[in-house]
Amino acid sequence: MALDRNSKPNDLSAFWMPFTANRQFKAKPRMVVAAEGMYYTTSDGRKVLDGTAGLWCCNAGHCRPKIVEAIQSQAAELDYAPAFQMGHPKAFELATRLRDMAPAPLEHVFFTNSGSESVETALKIAIAYQRAIGQGARTRLIGRERGYHGVNFGGISVGGIVNNRKYFGTLLTGVDHLPHTHLPETNAFSRGQPEHGAHLADDLERIVALHGPETIAAVIIEPLAGSTGVLVPPKGYLQRIRDICTKHGIVLIFDEVITGFGRLGAPFASDYFGVMPDMVTCAKGLTNGVIPMGAVLTTSAIHDAFMTGPEHLIELFHGYTYSGNPIASAAGLATLETYREEGLFERAADLSEYWADGLHSLKGLPHVIDIRNLGLIGAVELEPIPGAPTKRAFQAFLDAYEAGALIRTTGDIIALSPPLIIEKSQIDDLFGTLAKVLKGLD
Ligand SMILES: Cc1ncc(COP(=O)(O)O)c(C=O)c1O
Repeated sequence: MALDRNSKPNDLSAFWMPFTANRQFKAKPRMVVAAEGMYYTTSDGRKVLDGTAGLWCCNAGHCRPKIVEAIQSQAAELDYAPAFQMGHPKAFELATRLRDMAPAPLEHVFFTNSGSESVETALKIAIAYQRAIGQGARTRLIGRERGYHGVNFGGISVGGIVNNRKYFGTLLTGVDHLPHTHLPETNAFSRGQPEHGAHLADDLERIVALHGPETIAAVIIEPLAGSTGVLVPPKGYLQRIRDICTKHGIVLIFDEVITGFGRLGAPFASDYFGVMPDMVTCAKGLTNGVIPMGAVLTTSAIHDAFMTGPEHLIELFHGYTYSGNPIASAAGLATLETYREEGLFERAADLSEYWADGLHSLKGLPHVIDIRNLGLIGAVELEPIPGAPTKRAFQAFLDAYEAGALIRTTGDIIALSPPLIIEKSQIDDLFGTLAKVLKGLD
């Protein structure tokens, strides 16, 4: 049956939409009904250039044949297998591929279904690991201001986005936050990594001294903070965090839900920055965003600490009904194959200078107070309308959508992260559209 591109649901009230201004949306819906390559098709038949890879996830672009075919045939062959005390070949194959792609010390893979679940899993493994090695007093967790680690209780506790936390009670206890790394006075309009701010890592020493290192299980940070509006780590900052964690026996978790799978032109940000964490959380690009799946990668030291005791006993009391689901595993394998065959991570690296040129050409346009970039990530920060924060950027999002480009906004920041298949002409189109939109804003 042919798809009716103009079909609209006749009642929008039942679906309570996530992270959405529901009343605004339902008064003037923005519906997409199809996608291919770099473009969405809207319900009114327009093509919209995807400047955000969906939600930072469709790194290979949309409806890629290999991934579509893998999902279709897997659904017909083995739709589901119990995840506990049972296995199926593709989950093992995908774990092996991930291990081979990941930075060398990360050798084991625990599957989840989202970035949020990867974060909860990593935090739990960190605390249980410390206990397994006789460090049971290490239960404190350290996150960072402006960090985003998904929406579950552990993630919002270590996260530092105020609106994601303040409505939800007391959260986890025993959590501290490093300062964020946004230094507009010294770093505004930096191209790539900012020069200033490595010293902010030293605040970790202060927190360690305050509580005693023997109480601290883990530090979790995004190597590049995405959802808060793209905060690129200052030069030297990540290595200092690594060194302090090593010195004090603290597990370092890099949340690579956004930066994994080529976004910076390397498989993971850990590779890009040359700084190795003890665990990586990922999701999104693992299946090109097509089927929910996430993963936690750990070192052998962490994994092996659990592999003790009688062999018939479960070693880690944690897991999800859909951990390593067959269809997600098939999608993951086809996705990694697509990245490899098309050299998409290298492509992102090659395009990153062209991308930075286009992005920074927006400097000087109305309301633009900062521009930040790394790999195929960009952000344009706007001066907020006095008394109406977020309104100006939201208007930019609405105008860009009407003008044929999908952008994302958070606060008064426009964030961009296109599929890694983007062509130079499409980069020109994206920034051309954005320039027009910015010139038209109040
Ligand atoms: C760094 C980071 N961690 C966790 C998450 C949560 O992922 P999910 O929405 O799949 O739960 C996100 C989502 O954007 C993210 O950027």
